[in-house]
Amino acid sequence: MIELGRFQIDLEMRMLQLNGETVQLGSRAFDILAAVASADGRLVTKDELMNIVWPDTIVEENNIQVHLSALRKVLGQDRDLILTVPGRGYQLRQRRRNALSDEAGVRASGIRASGSQALRASRLPPPKSRLLGRDLAVRQIRALLEQTPVLTLVGAGGIGKTTVAVEAAHHSSADFEEPVCFVELAQLTTEEAVLRAIVERCGLSVPDPRVDVEQVVAALARQRRLLVLDNAEHVIGIMAHIVEALVAGNDALRVLVTSREPLRIMPETVFRVEPLDVPPPHSTDADILRCSAVNLFLRHANSLQGKVGSDSTELQLVGEICRRLDGIPLAIELAAARVVALGVEGVHRRLDDRMAILAGGYRTALPRHQTLRATFDWSFAILDQNARSLFRRLAVFGDAFTFEAMCAVVCDEAYTVANAIGSIGELVAKSLVGVEFEGPVARYRLSESTRAYAMAKLQAEGEQDDIAARHARYLPATRQSAA
Ligand SMILES: Nc1ncnc2c1ncn2[C@@H]1O[C@H](COP(=O)(O)OP(=O)(O)OP(=O)(O)O)[C@@H](O)[C@H]1O
Ligand SMILES: [Mg+2]
Repeated sequence: MIELGRFQIDLEMRMLQLNGETVQLGSRAFDILAAVASADGRLVTKDELMNIVWPDTIVEENNIQVHLSALRKVLGQDRDLILTVPGRGYQLRQRRRNALSDEAGVRASGIRASGSQALRASRLPPPKSRLLGRDLAVRQIRALLEQTPVLTLVGAGGIGKTTVAVEAAHHSSADFEEPVCFVELAQLTTEEAVLRAIVERCGLSVPDPRVDVEQVVAALARQRRLLVLDNAEHVIGIMAHIVEALVAGNDALRVLVTSREPLRIMPETVFRVEPLDVPPPHSTDADILRCSAVNLFLRHANSLQGKVGSDSTELQLVGEICRRLDGIPLAIELAAARVVALGVEGVHRRLDDRMAILAGGYRTALPRHQTLRATFDWSFAILDQNARSLFRRLAVFGDAFTFEAMCAVVCDEAYTVANAIGSIGELVAKSLVGVEFEGPVARYRLSESTRAYAMAKLQAEGEQDDIAARHARYLPATRQSAA
């Protein structure tokens, strides 16, 4: 819930309220209001607004003015809170406030935070105003946060864990007395650095400059607060220890973690973030257009060069690209960016060489989101030697495989079955290998992108011929025993 003058904006329910009463507002006008209010004082350009309000259609710019003047009429005496910056866009005059004001939260908690600390503490990254395909996940996460002290959003690199966590935190912020505290962990490597970041971002006061976990537990005690710890996988052991201590010291604390791997602690509930939905083969154009992965691709490609996906042949190719990229938003964004240079057909044709073409992300994105290879490098770097060996050897499996098949192909004198047991568990936990159960039997699978990355590693290690030959020998043997 966002407060604007005398009004409250409920983004989830898409409602504008005045003194608890719903105020009628057209859907486009609401989109404009939500976009400007969510930007938290940042200028929203006309182009951005056009993309948000009319994502799939090209309309005249004066449509914004029409809906904006309807909105200002409804806002009445608060109309001037939405400022027009001539020739550029629109901006909120006040910093947006959550329904429970940040200041009230700080007062209630009794913590000694300086003004600027309190302000920073209230800061969550702005929500993506056009998050696709995550309505249900956001509702589920919000509900789970009421029940579990620690909720970890787990999934493959670039699947959208951080994005959905930020959205869910915005939706949940009104459920907490204290402002939500968001801590980005990707640059931090030691326990002290993590603790210091929590102290700073929450605006806590601790007695000793050499902050330790007991001090943070004491400073957070009794606070009803949501702590979002983003990108924990590379400091997973440290985070397990800190998070367990924090929730043991405070029943009212909720911790939302994003990580490619679970913390593996008792109070944790794991929420697996699923890929965006992709169309099955032979879908109709209408069904393809209903898929969130396709919408992400089209939105991104059209923001760069317009008119993509307007004929059926192209749309079918887009559907297949999204399917072959396993519905992973980061890969889809990178592929859509390549349409400018290669066209949809060119991107589709070169998907076998995806590690080369899926590069050139947003200049301002995290380094590991600039290329598909970099996002896998981030996971590969934190594997131990045994898990690395297994991972690259799994590249020979083009389909689902059992543990027995895996051992027959990858194990030898140097790489034992005991090694394989430990390492497959690690690869599954780190979201590099998927597992499904057919009754009691586990079957493993690498996504197409993961397999392409693993294959490059297998080739670089010079093992490709040997492992491919073992795989080829294994296949006829299994066919014979099945006959
Ligand atoms: N539902 C979505 N709708 C639109 N864009 C999305 C969605 N989910 C993710 N994205 C985009 O995909 C990219 C990757 O998302 P995000 O950073 O959330 O992934 P992640 O799972 O946290 O990755 P990592 O494992 O590297 O931390 C971002 O550019 C983000 O804006
Ligand atoms: Mg992330």
